[in-house]
Amino acid sequence: MCGIVGYVGPQNALDVVLEGLRRLEYRGYDSAGVAVRVDGPDGGELAAAKKAGKLANLEKLLADEPLPESTIGIGHTRWATHGGPTDRNAHPHLSADGRVAVVHNGIIENFAALRAELEDAGIEMRSETDTEVVAHLMTAVYAGLPESPGRLAEAMRLVSGRLEGAFTLVVTHADEPDTLVASRRNSPLVVGIGDGEYFLGSDVAAFIAHTREARELGQDQVVEIDRTRGLTVTDFAGSVVEPVAYTVDWDAAAAEKGGHDWFMLKEIAEQPQAIADTLLGRLGEDGELILDEVRLSDQELRDIDKIFVVSCGTSFHAGLIAKYAIEHWTRIPVEVEVASEFRYRDPVLDRSTLVVVISQSGETMDTLMALRHAKEQKARVLAICNVNGSTIPRESDAVLYTHAGPEVAVASTKSFLAQIVACYLVGLFLAQVRGIKYADEVAAIVAELQKLPGAVEQVLTHMEPVRELGRSLADADTILFLGRHVGFPVALEGALKLKELAYIHAEGFAAGELKHGPIAVIDQGTPVVVIVPSPRSRESVHGKVVSNIQEVRARGARTIVIAEEGDDDVVPYADHLIRVPRTPTLLAPVVTTVPLQILACEIADTRGFDVDQPRNLAKSVTVE
Ligand code: M6R
Repeated sequence: MCGIVGYVGPQNALDVVLEGLRRLEYRGYDSAGVAVRVDGPDGGELAAAKKAGKLANLEKLLADEPLPESTIGIGHTRWATHGGPTDRNAHPHLSADGRVAVVHNGIIENFAALRAELEDAGIEMRSETDTEVVAHLMTAVYAGLPESPGRLAEAMRLVSGRLEGAFTLVVTHADEPDTLVASRRNSPLVVGIGDGEYFLGSDVAAFIAHTREARELGQDQVVEIDRTRGLTVTDFAGSVVEPVAYTVDWDAAAAEKGGHDWFMLKEIAEQPQAIADTLLGRLGEDGELILDEVRLSDQELRDIDKIFVVSCGTSFHAGLIAKYAIEHWTRIPVEVEVASEFRYRDPVLDRSTLVVVISQSGETMDTLMALRHAKEQKARVLAICNVNGSTIPRESDAVLYTHAGPEVAVASTKSFLAQIVACYLVGLFLAQVRGIKYADEVAAIVAELQKLPGAVEQVLTHMEPVRELGRSLADADTILFLGRHVGFPVALEGALKLKELAYIHAEGFAAGELKHGPIAVIDQGTPVVVIVPSPRSRESVHGKVVSNIQEVRARGARTIVIAEEGDDDVVPYADHLIRVPRTPTLLAPVVTTVPLQILACEIADTRGFDVDQPRNLAKSVTVE
């Protein structure tokens, strides 16, 4: 999940590449590096700079030791896999003669064998990375090819054919004044087309400030961008393919902080819009729901007898919420699994199984591999995704896009709420196609969904007491989260947010499980956040959660209670009471999650951590 940028054009390449890296830094920030191709006294040469740590370290280095102006450049921001986050392991990696520079995202699984082969040939490796082998292989293969237009691309194809695993590679060569090449397998790469200039990026954020015209690269393809010959895309065998053209509908401003201290806060504030946009245009004139791309017939959807929801992290929590709604509305059994486990336990799948994969980025490798396994087993796959044209929706049979807009902060917020809403739509869509619900019943629930942006807006306007509470919790050693029914996944999400942002031990529990062991950890003053279901939901669930609050309080817990307006039963047992608007039971996670996001953000901020780029994490996890 590194970020990759490439540029060929009339601007100073270094400026364009650094700007792209700034926008891609969410993908990894263990190190950053750039290389540019310049004309030297004896022909072309490469100039490179790289530095461990955040991009700011590289920028400082470049301010002290500037690189020459150039019209071809590549750049990289790293999330370390092979080799620690050091200067030496930072990309670009250069060949022994310094004439090839390569940046890479992914893992080259057969790198050890290739490395041994190169070492046997007398090449001395200078890093511990899997990537460096590519620089040496490119040099050798390029040297063996006749001088001709397309020589660098041919070398890229031949080298790519030798690699196993996942890779996006961008390569520049000192002898190629006009050409940059790239290759992809199981790892993202998009091309931006400007006026007489070309961009490469791990995603469109890399070049959104310059152009919205993009080309989508398929699996196992090589792209050559050449100042005179333009753009050529081929498969690894060399057959020319036509890339899919699309226009990006995000603008550069959408990727900026918009006056907030953190991207996360901006993205939390954008949640009402994200929900509204995800609902927009989903209801046809006759009340029918509309998905973005459905390559499945109504009959195939009627034949479904089992659903798996497969995803990771926060997207997994959206899946857990989906189970309650989809089972309730369709009566189809739903299982929810973390993607990294799914294919390894050999799940029972067939043509009548629907696998719903949920991914903000659309590039999460665990989810992608689960998707591919499901397809091999002939299951139907429906993707819920936020990034248009990313790999997961491209490989799925049907797609419902969440229109949350670009999410830059590593912690998922607006994409989570949009995913939950998308899951509701999928449940309603299936119920409708299968004739379990009439169009007017669906419309009635959609009308409730349409009230959610207003409800989230209302929560957001009352968050100051939550921020104050967050500041008072900054020294907590552990914080527990409890919920029942749809409140349980919300508890898991609250705990995940706190762990990833504030580095505080946190756990989410099904409130009823507490008495089976975890209650032993509650001590005097242990903060326990409880997500209380509506008293209008099944009476027994509400009453039981109120009892759970009393149980933990009796053992010394400091209770932080999230309950809907008018629920007075909780008042005597809440040390802190956070009110949320009344919302139908199944839809409640959309509002109850919001205070937990704010709480985690405030605690992390008070503790002095980088909220947008927590340690050890990356926004898009493109390795298994
Ligand atoms: O892009 P995806 O939704 O597939 O990402 C899945 C997880 O990596 C992601 O939700 C992660 O857990 C977030 N950092 C949580 O805030």
